[in-house]
Amino acid sequence: MIRAQGLAALAEEVERCTRCPLHATRTQAVFGAGHPDADLLFVGEAPGFHEDQQGVPFVGQAGKLLDKLLAGIGLTRADVYIANVLKSRPPGNRDPHPDEISACEGWLFRQIELIEPKVVATLGNFATKLLSGKPLGITRVHGQEQVTTLGGRRVLLYPLYHPAAALYTPAMLEVLQDDFRRLPELLGRAPATVAPPAEVERVLAREPAVQLGLF
Ligand code: URA
Repeated sequence: MIRAQGLAALAEEVERCTRCPLHATRTQAVFGAGHPDADLLFVGEAPGFHEDQQGVPFVGQAGKLLDKLLAGIGLTRADVYIANVLKSRPPGNRDPHPDEISACEGWLFRQIELIEPKVVATLGNFATKLLSGKPLGITRVHGQEQVTTLGGRRVLLYPLYHPAAALYTPAMLEVLQDDFRRLPELLGRAPATVAPPAEVERVLAREPAVQLGLF
């Protein structure tokens, strides 16, 4: 309940956001949707035409494919949370600009803090580069999970091809399906693997190891 309330309050802030020029051309902000307590968070790129009209992420063709991929591993969108890097539609569905990403990324990080997912599956290059903090493209890193810190917690970051890219490229769709099949295993990993003791890490960052009696 607390998460749901936090997300609802954040969504209201996002609806009023004017941090980048896209606020002037959007129909409405597309905050995100799904289960506030989800273990699995998907992060796409930006709303398209239908998302901008309906205020819900992934409701167009790419969204239908995402629904199918979820069904293939026994999940529905009600079991997961879906958000985007940008909360406003770039005109003509062009790529997000770096200044738009910088202006908007804070909202995504606050969503991650509130939802506290175990696994963050990035869809495509923009989400992957932003959340990995590395310039490596999706072709290099898809299907390779990595432990990283997001929203102050350790999570498994799992880059995937964007469903829109897989829509018309059968080979890419096969890879995306294969990568999706690993999600249940990643979600089932012991919390200790996903969330190493953050407190110990914080202490280690502050105190010399000798003082802690580690050597
Ligand atoms: N593509 C995205 O990246 N996000 C959406 O919400 C829809 C399509």
